[in-house]
This record gives sequence, C-alpha cells and structure tokens, in this order.
Amino acid sequence: MLASDLDPTRIPSHIACVMDGNGRWAEQRGLPRTDGHTAGEQALFEVLDGADDLGVGWFTVYAFSTENWRRPADEVQFLLQFNEEILLNRQRELHERNIRIRFIGRRDRRVPQRLVRRMDEATDLTRNNTGLTFTIAFNYGGRAEMVDAVQQIIDSDTRKVTERTIARHLYDPEMPEPDLVIRTSGEYRVSNFLLWNLAYSELVFSDTLWPDFRREHLYAAIKEYQDRDRRYGGVGGPEA
Ligand code: IPE
Ligand code: IPE
Ligand code: MG
Repeated sequence: MLASDLDPTRIPSHIACVMDGNGRWAEQRGLPRTDGHTAGEQALFEVLDGADDLGVGWFTVYAFSTENWRRPADEVQFLLQFNEEILLNRQRELHERNIRIRFIGRRDRRVPQRLVRRMDEATDLTRNNTGLTFTIAFNYGGRAEMVDAVQQIIDSDTRKVTERTIARHLYDPEMPEPDLVIRTSGEYRVSNFLLWNLAYSELVFSDTLWPDFRREHLYAAIKEYQDRDRRYGGVGGPEA
C-alpha cells in the first residue's frame, strides 16, 4: 500500500486513532507491558508524519482514558511519566514542523501538576502554528466530556440548548468531527472516545497491534475510508 494508491482529493481532514494493543505486543515477546507503550512511540510519530505528508489537517490520538486509572499503579505511573517525556522530547521538533499541539481531557487532581504544566507549555509554544493540529486525548472520556459540557451550560444559565450549544462546550470547540477513526489491535469498540464527535465518523478497525502500525497501515485505513459511501442518513451515491 502506497500513498499513490490513494485519491488525493479525498484525504480525510481529521483522523483520530485509538492506539491499542501495546500490552499484548509486549506480552507476545515476553516483555513487561510497559515496553509495549515505549514501542508505541515510534508508531505514533510515523503515523503522525504520514498523516502530515498527506495533508491531513487534524490528527487526534487517544493516549489515556478516564478508565485507564483502573490499571495497576505501576503501569499508570509509567504512562504519566512516559507522556511527560514524550512532550519534553518532541515538542521542539513538532514546533519546527509548524504542528499545533492541543489536549483534550479532564484536568482532575489525579493528573500530576508537572504534566499539566508540560501540556500547557506545549500548547503555548505551538499555539500560532498553522500546520497540522495534533490533539492528544489525555485523561479523556467521552462521557466525562459531555458531563463537563452540561455542567458548564447549566452554570452559564443558558435556557435554550441546541446541538451547537453542546458542541461549543466540548473540550476543544474548534476541533472538527473526525472523518476517520482508526482502532488497532482487533478490538471493535469505541471505549468512550470522542462520543459526541464520532456520530458520523467512518470507523476502520485494524488487527495490527499499535507498536507495529506504520505508514502503510495508515494508507490502508484511508483506502478503506475512501471506498465507503458516507450517507449521513440520506441515500448517498454521487447525487447526494
Ligand atoms: C493501548 O494499549 C495504550 C493505552 C491504553 C494507554 P494497551 O495497553 O491497552 O494494550 P492492550 O490492549 O492491553 O494490548
Ligand atoms: C482505549 O484502550 C484507551 C486508549 C487507547 C488510551 P483500552 O485498551 O483502555 O480500551 P479497552 O479497555 O480495551 O476498552
Ligand atoms: Mg487496550
């Protein structure tokens, strides 16, 4: 699968990824689960590069869910530390490539202050960049996002609620709905990711475990997306 096999006029403008299968990748090799997360970093930046080269405007990844706190304490600790290091090590390079970094998720007390500061630094550093927007969903849950949105709406004394009202109170109101959501590792579920936004996203599931995911897998997912007919409740086809 090559980039030239894709229709350049129908590249999704927003791709979101549920990066899953790190633990199994490591277990298959007799390694600790955390080695799978480490190996996932290469996949992340390859896919980000691939998306950027194709002209994708928005690329969003699920890095840590509101449910991932249920994992063993040492794995949670590792993931917090690991995400902080990635930000520290990569933000300059991303900035030089004109990438805008953003975060979605709940900033509750479980997220260490140091990590919150790193997130703010990366956001501030890259705020005015005009290239791809790279959004990291951290301590993110789709239900928590809706609860937080409803709470804000109540607090603002809004009397009339429309879909636009809710969309305006999401963690990043500027983020467009994903055209394509990719989940790796052969799991066929959404796991509380972007619940509001993925109402009409095309879902592509890949059996590849995240640490093995490369550009060619991204291209294959986009090809599958391009072969779909997005009907939005209508009848579809070329007349739609
Ligand atoms: C995804 O890989 C990474 C995170 C959820 C942080 P997993 O750690 O869920 O890997 P599996 O699903 O156990 O293989
Ligand atoms: C979803 O993967 C969360 C992230 C990729 C960060 P999980 O591995 O946590 O999802 P479940 O538990 O299999 O549904
Ligand atoms: Mg998993």
